[in-house]
Amino acid sequence: MRLKLFLRVTAAAAILPHLALAQTLPVPSTWINERGSVLTVQSVDASSGKILGNFTNNAPNTACLGTPGFDLAGKIENDDVKLYVTFKNQSMDCRTITLWTGKLAGDKITTIWELVYLTPDGFSTATGSDTFTKQ
Ligand code: BTN
Repeated sequence: MRLKLFLRVTAAAAILPHLALAQTLPVPSTWINERGSVLTVQSVDASSGKILGNFTNNAPNTACLGTPGFDLAGKIENDDVKLYVTFKNQSMDCRTITLWTGKLAGDKITTIWELVYLTPDGFSTATGSDTFTKQ
């Protein structure tokens, strides 16, 4: 009897931390960062964690602004979130790709990003951070 109880408690202790980490992004959901840009999550594949959505850039002093935004893709694994946007749609092409890497915690996705853009001479990069808050 005691052995059974011990085994149950041990199994629960092993499983619970993993359950606590298993967050996911609500679908659909809308997130806004400190630059006013809007990230919309349209789907999250339950088995692979693949994310699809839209990103509308509203950051001052940047290009490719406003609606209809750009396709967004990424992946969530536990609380690790990776997102990328190629800033090309039917009417705009900024020759830019941005990758965000971050963590989901409650109603925030805290990220750092790296942006690569083509220039006449090759390419340049920029880095920064964005915190997205769920609306
Ligand atoms: C460009 O200016 O070449 C395209 C737009 C890039 C916008 C960047 S992506 C990272 C950062 N966070 C934002 O919300 N916008 C800027």
